[in-house]
Amino acid sequence: MVDFTKLEQDITNSLSKVTDLESLNECRIKYLGKKGEISLLMKELAKLSDDDRKRQAEILNILKNKTLSLIEEKTEELNDRNLNEKLSSETLDVTLPVSSSLGSIHPITQVIEEVVTIFGDLDFYVAEGPEVETDYNNFTALNTSEHHPARQMHDTFYVETQTDNMQNVLRTHTSPVQIRSMLEHKPPIRLIAPGKTFRCDNDQTHSPMFHQVEGLVIDKDSNMSHLKGCLEIFLKTFFETDKLKMRFRPSHFPFTEPSAEVDIGYTKKGNQLIIGEGNDWLEILGCGMVHPKVLQNVNIDPNSFQGYAFGMGIERLAMLKYGISDLRTFFECDLRWIKHYGFSPLNFPSLIRDLS
Ligand code: DAH
Repeated sequence: MVDFTKLEQDITNSLSKVTDLESLNECRIKYLGKKGEISLLMKELAKLSDDDRKRQAEILNILKNKTLSLIEEKTEELNDRNLNEKLSSETLDVTLPVSSSLGSIHPITQVIEEVVTIFGDLDFYVAEGPEVETDYNNFTALNTSEHHPARQMHDTFYVETQTDNMQNVLRTHTSPVQIRSMLEHKPPIRLIAPGKTFRCDNDQTHSPMFHQVEGLVIDKDSNMSHLKGCLEIFLKTFFETDKLKMRFRPSHFPFTEPSAEVDIGYTKKGNQLIIGEGNDWLEILGCGMVHPKVLQNVNIDPNSFQGYAFGMGIERLAMLKYGISDLRTFFECDLRWIKHYGFSPLNFPSLIRDLS
């Protein structure tokens, strides 16, 4: 006859000594595993007389359930203990001083944020387009036909793929975002589109990858004076001086008519450029009234809608505002350079202009 009281004592004893999940599992196998003591006794039941079998099966079932709940209790206890140990060994000391080796914001990112903040305050929203663009969106839809000299001037990188039977290129400017946005939304439109652009060019003042920001306003009555006012507010706020002098020079872009280039006044003191003083001029951006043919290309009726567009180079804005003299240094990934020219993540762009 099996000594069930002794077996129960054995089980309780062994489980009380268990101190980790691994030995708990060993214990479970020892009593309840396929060849465990309780399981074997269960198998033996078949050999007993009816009466004995009934009695012993009852006792065994009670013992099995008790063992199971003891194991469950123990598992919970061990899990709780493990969690508490983890919590106390991994506590964070929130009073520790801030690490001094923080990264910094690249001037390109900083300038994009400044530009977005200023235009955001003027009610513009930010639009995006792909860097691999169709030749059609990059040129044709912008009124730049196949043999237009502007295509050669852009030193385009052609890509070996096509989209909807159209040759793909790396976009040479952010202007194709105008096309995509006008196809997607009906006017009124008031957007800026900052992003990467690409041209096959590399010297002290050109990089094969650079950044531009595009602007587009389409509504019923926006005109050249709105364009001038908008750019004046932007440039004065960006360069943080109300004394900024601006000059609109007639120019030509296939997608605007009339077109203009904007120069800002500056002077040189030693090696430093002072923006807003002096009688020298620096070209800063291109702009104009959106050409009626561009509107037709995106199914907007030029007799009902009109508007203006502008585009400028982010690197140029950054170089002028922060006194960076070589364009190539932007992309050399030199840690000393970024330490010198980088910005603190908490250096938020300001909309307050120096009104002195
Ligand atoms: N896309 C022109 C360029 O890359 C810049 C430009 C000029 C954009 C006039 C415009 C514009 O939207 O109206 O040189």
